[in-house]
Amino acid sequence: MTEPDNKMKYFPLFLKLAEQTCLVVGGGTMALSKVRLLLKAGATVHVAAAEIGSELHEEAGAEGGCFADELKENRLVVNAARFDPQELSSCTLVVAASGDPALDARVAQAAREAGKPVNVVDRTDLCTFIMPAIVHRGDVIIGISTSGASPVLARNIRAQIESILPARLGALSAFARSFRQAVKATFAWDGRKRFWERFFDGPIAADVLAGREAMAREKMVSQINRANVGAAHRGCVHIVGAGPGDPDLLTLRAVQVMRDADVVLYDNLIGPRILDYVRRDAKRIYVGKTRARHSRTQNEINALLVHYAMTGARVVRLKGGDPFVFGRGGEEVEAVRTQEIAVEVVPGITAAAGCAATAQIPLTHRDHANAVTFVTGHGSAGEPDLDWAALARRNQTLAIYMGAANAALISQKLISHGLDGKTSVAVIENGTLPEQKTVRGSLTALSDLMRDNDILGPAMLVIGDVAALGSQSSGRLHRPQRRVA
Ligand SMILES: C[S@@+](CC[C@H](N)C(=O)[O-])C[C@H]1O[C@@H](n2cnc3c(N)ncnc32)[C@H](O)[C@@H]1O
Repeated sequence: MTEPDNKMKYFPLFLKLAEQTCLVVGGGTMALSKVRLLLKAGATVHVAAAEIGSELHEEAGAEGGCFADELKENRLVVNAARFDPQELSSCTLVVAASGDPALDARVAQAAREAGKPVNVVDRTDLCTFIMPAIVHRGDVIIGISTSGASPVLARNIRAQIESILPARLGALSAFARSFRQAVKATFAWDGRKRFWERFFDGPIAADVLAGREAMAREKMVSQINRANVGAAHRGCVHIVGAGPGDPDLLTLRAVQVMRDADVVLYDNLIGPRILDYVRRDAKRIYVGKTRARHSRTQNEINALLVHYAMTGARVVRLKGGDPFVFGRGGEEVEAVRTQEIAVEVVPGITAAAGCAATAQIPLTHRDHANAVTFVTGHGSAGEPDLDWAALARRNQTLAIYMGAANAALISQKLISHGLDGKTSVAVIENGTLPEQKTVRGSLTALSDLMRDNDILGPAMLVIGDVAALGSQSSGRLHRPQRRVA
């Protein structure tokens, strides 16, 4: 099997040839096609050949022939003379197309010695640049190369691309160019990008492609004018729950909005494997908060959401778990809505559900728990202000978020309010992640359990009879290997 090589053998770039001189050595049909191409790119072409073939001769010589304009403008100079290396000094690039192997090799060597890029037709080993197959629609130019391996394959690809591109693509690009300055003067950079993304996917571009250019122009002018008076400046905010950590637990909607985002604000519970789903050139802003250190206040985060949305950006606020479960998502929605910015909340799998699932602890169970309470183990002043008597009732499960630092206090309060010290507890650290740790014990020994097992990462405390159920494994089934017959 032939493995594809991942290194690029040639670097693709687009060269400006207007007002540059190019030398073509050779006077036959091979040379003629290169001459045509270079003239089309605006170059001045000097042809050097001892013999000028009939086709080149006819086109260059005949009054009104293909090259009449170029001849008049002195953009085509046909020299019925041998190749003279002196000519190299004044040219930008060289094409050897004589078909005479010895002459072409000599031209290639002279060009290399003079530091000039050289293409030798049908001799990639002598080329310092190669010419791609080209799809050309006005400003849109697509170069296709197989690095010289198969020009026929390149032409095939070109035919396929030609067949899917709209014929009026060039007109669309010229239309967009004619509004570039106006759009630039109207929008800040990120709003501008957003505007053009909408434009190319939207009805105005469809009008241009369908040839309704006057109508498209009217619509475009009115859209820019509206933006100038402030109507279309606003972007939007998606408050997205990213789940408990495993990227496979992201919702489809979360992935869609992450792929579309211009700006992403994310917490410390969002790992790099989740951030991989964010659009590559989106701006990423870490706004993580830890128990001990608030890197950004909630007000600062709210202000950032509003600020970026006001520039026209699609803003994604990525939060661990679900945004509305101990996530302050409610405050963020409110801050954005007050500014009349469109906001969407994308739910995520909350840590209690994710951790319970991977530890295979059912949060409710007909025989053990007819209720589940999500509760925070951390109060604004440190100690949580909770209805301990209600939490100490039997036949329920407590899923305690942010409870690690107050584990001793939690167990002592629950026991003093009547819950049996032998009640089962499970602590799940880094739930759903490869480093997940699940430990089990009794309520009396909760803080020892945490200390003895070095629970330092984000942890979920599950208290109730259901905590004795479940498995020690990660709870994740791996795809079985297919047997090869
Ligand atoms: C500020 S709360 C955010 C909760 C989040 N909005 C949710 O719905 O899961 C952070 C707490 O959630 C819990 N938590 C979040 N991710 C976790 C995980 N992967 N494993 C265990 N606990 C987690 C921990 O108790 C952590 O201290």
